[in-house]
Amino acid sequence: MSIRRLPSHLVNRIAAGEVVERPASALKELVENAIDAGATRIAIRLSAGGADLIEVTDDGCGMAAGEMRLALERHATSKLPDDAIENVSTMGFRGEALPSIASVAMLTLESRVRDGDGWSLTVDNGELVGEGPAALPPGTRVRVEGLFERVPARRKFLRSVRAEYAACLDAVKRLAMARPEIGFSLEHDGRLSLGVPPGDSAPARVAALTDRELPANSVGVDLVREGLRLGGVAGLPTFSRGVADHQYLFVNNRPVKDRLLAGAVRGAYSDLLARDRHPLVALFLDVPQSEVDVNVHPAKTEVRFRDPQLVRGLIVSGLRRALDAAGHASARPMAADVLSGWTAGDMRSGEGRSPAIQPSTAPAFAGAPSVGLADHRAFFTPPPHARAEPAYAPPPEHNSFPLGVARGQVANTYIVAEAEDGLILVDQHAAHERLVLERMKRAAANGGVHAQALLLPEVVELDEPACDRLEARASELAAFGLDLERFGPAAMLVRATPAPLGQGDIPGLVRDLADELAAFDQALSLKERLEEVAATMACHGSVRAGRALSVAEMNALLREMESTPHSGQCNHGRPTWVKLARGDLEKLFGRK
Ligand SMILES: Nc1ncnc2c1ncn2[C@@H]1O[C@H](COP(=O)(O)OP(=O)(O)OP(=O)(O)O)[C@@H](O)[C@H]1O
Ligand SMILES: [Mg+2]
Repeated sequence: MSIRRLPSHLVNRIAAGEVVERPASALKELVENAIDAGATRIAIRLSAGGADLIEVTDDGCGMAAGEMRLALERHATSKLPDDAIENVSTMGFRGEALPSIASVAMLTLESRVRDGDGWSLTVDNGELVGEGPAALPPGTRVRVEGLFERVPARRKFLRSVRAEYAACLDAVKRLAMARPEIGFSLEHDGRLSLGVPPGDSAPARVAALTDRELPANSVGVDLVREGLRLGGVAGLPTFSRGVADHQYLFVNNRPVKDRLLAGAVRGAYSDLLARDRHPLVALFLDVPQSEVDVNVHPAKTEVRFRDPQLVRGLIVSGLRRALDAAGHASARPMAADVLSGWTAGDMRSGEGRSPAIQPSTAPAFAGAPSVGLADHRAFFTPPPHARAEPAYAPPPEHNSFPLGVARGQVANTYIVAEAEDGLILVDQHAAHERLVLERMKRAAANGGVHAQALLLPEVVELDEPACDRLEARASELAAFGLDLERFGPAAMLVRATPAPLGQGDIPGLVRDLADELAAFDQALSLKERLEEVAATMACHGSVRAGRALSVAEMNALLREMESTPHSGQCNHGRPTWVKLARGDLEKLFGRK
């Protein structure tokens, strides 16, 4: 076997395998080049998710004709003047992107420096096929057509237009968030889908690209430690999402997708959120160049820290401090120490005390075998909706129900009930959510969930890929009682919601469903994912924590819990009720 040096077109194509994985990665490289060129505005045009065309136009410094030829050669870069790769502050530094892209597509590079003339070069899958003068304003325009058209092995790995476009949009959002001073526009198949002006503040830019509700539902993060600085915004736990896609992380203004950082975010929210909920965060980490190596990943999306634990600690404490300062500690689920604090209320002696409060476990009434549920069901048919109608007759004053009779409400959140054998506390929201889930599942399995038409259809704004996903599943969602239709490129019109939800939080519901659809396998029908869809919907049902309930409503909820399977735990696995047994009550007061 003889060793040979590979010809440059092959070398480039091999590099392209790493640098250009899909249209979004080519687009990211081109936008990064525009940023490095000092652009104040960057205009992007795509067609067919970027597979047919990616065009990036900037008003940056431009290149002279000679530089353009060099730019298309491998390892030619203007960004490492002194060989000190560890000090690089530009997005690019390898001189690989343009030649790599040009080896797997038709690439036209047009550029003009401020006081010069424009020039154009065209490279067709690695071969220079034309050059000459070009008319354009100062700056650079790069057009990439037919990506992977001559590399069928790669082309066939491209996903649907919709999926490729979603990846492009995500890449642009992250870069636009990293550089709020630059204006960005993105056009897909002739439609403007993103536009932010130059000169935004960082928080305004994050809100514009994520959710306009974010400022009202987030806290600012700002923490400096040992020369490292963490800034940004952290969404409140109550503003969480169903997928982790809404986490934007930047290291020295470079968007990164780093497992260490993502893990630290999860850690910071761990006891504030259920495992299947994810916070919306945009975190900007500034570290000295010597602390981080950006040259560890072919697409430059991962970095390596000299002291990962320091970074992790900074993120966890930065987020915790911000969330705690916001006074939302109450959003935490009832913690074990709160429960033990209650039983520890006895100051004389703690020995020999069994835990006074038993968190409920499923099945809900395993601990109360003496009570026949069937009897109670005969007396009290569960109401059709958890929100009991006021006409619902108050239950008789006896306490033989397993969950007792409602005596009042605490903090508009907990129902206090008296049972034959003790005191019961119910988390009304957690319990209601579970009941709604079970009702949704039953209805969906029996031919469809009844839809409740809205008096006024509600418009919910979302980004385009999210709308595409919802639109594609609209008929399936209708079977769950959710009627929605496309309303322009970036909004959905909701006409009816699932009846079991009552007047829930419609925008939250639609957003969460859109997120969830992104994670679904396209081949699976929503029916096959019944549990997940119903659970997502149930999260947005009407009886929220913080709503005052009438005694009749409270009793209706208790009765429905008694007749519903799994009602002892909420959809996130937390208890929906706890009990202080009468004997334990007596012990607490030294009566026994
Ligand atoms: N939009 C642009 N405006 C001005 N100069 C550009 C532009 N795009 C590329 N260049 C020049 O072409 C060179 C090569 O670009 P290329 O993207 O291939 O490599 P790089 O950005 O230096 O490094 P990397 O491979 O890490 O992106 C750049 O160093 C820069 O000098
Ligand atoms: Mg580059």
